Amino acid sequence: MTQTSTAEERFISRLIQEKPLLHVVTQGDEEEYGFLGIKAGPVSWAVNSEILRHLQKIVKPNHRTLETGCGHTTVAFAALGARHICVNPKAEEAQSIRDYLKSIGASTDRLQFILESSDVGLVSLGSEVKLDMGFIDGCHGFPFPALDWHYIDQHLEVGGILGVDDTNIPAVKVLTDFLDSNGTYRLEDTIGKTSFYRKLAHEKNREWVFQGFNKAALDKALGKRSVRIIVKKLIRKVQGGRA
Ligand SMILES: C[S@@+](CC[C@H](N)C(=O)[O-])C[C@H]1O[C@@H](n2cnc3c(N)ncnc32)[C@H](O)[C@@H]1O
Repeated sequence: MTQTSTAEERFISRLIQEKPLLHVVTQGDEEEYGFLGIKAGPVSWAVNSEILRHLQKIVKPNHRTLETGCGHTTVAFAALGARHICVNPKAEEAQSIRDYLKSIGASTDRLQFILESSDVGLVSLGSEVKLDMGFIDGCHGFPFPALDWHYIDQHLEVGGILGVDDTNIPAVKVLTDFLDSNGTYRLEDTIGKTSFYRKLAHEKNREWVFQGFNKAALDKALGKRSVRIIVKKLIRKVQGGRA
């Protein structure tokens, strides 16, 4: 084992063992989400250790990565040496992550936070940004997971990996249903409610008629059209015969 992989293993093991509370419930959140029984203060909504171990396997120091939402995954991407962009609106969470990385002796030099909601922050990414991996785990309400994918996909290289967390939530499942059937991504791994896809192709045109996801509707429309054309031709023939 190399020196680097020993350090990476140590960082991920510490993260799994220490389970730092890197998310913040503000007083405002407590009032807004009161019906969920959450209290103001530090909490963790992190992915489980299996996902962190999976990231350890697939993320390489030369990778350019981006995630929506932050937490243990952000620590993992940074500690594994990736050049990582994290899009998350809460500055307190970003600071906790930087502090935790420093406390375990991991570098924050290649970690960049975009402190915006992903629907705003992702739009500002320059076209020169290229990604080897994206991870979607920010706002889980519709249409955010699909929106996150739409923008991440524009930067993700063919052959790159896309992780999608919380696929049990309908607003997320819309996205994974699309990825499962569109033909532009291939499912590589599913760990609990997290799926990892490999990007197979860029979509040149996002119009529905070019998407495998919509094939049944297109076939139906084309089928109906060809029946209409045949009927019209027959009518013309019959009418022509009578004349
Ligand atoms: C489930 S947690 C992410 C867990 C993280 N992957 C981990 O392993 O710890 C959801 C995160 O999404 C962030 N978030 C909420 N709304 C967001 C939005 N509109 N855009 C980006 N991130 C958002 C929250 O602040 C929180 O950090």
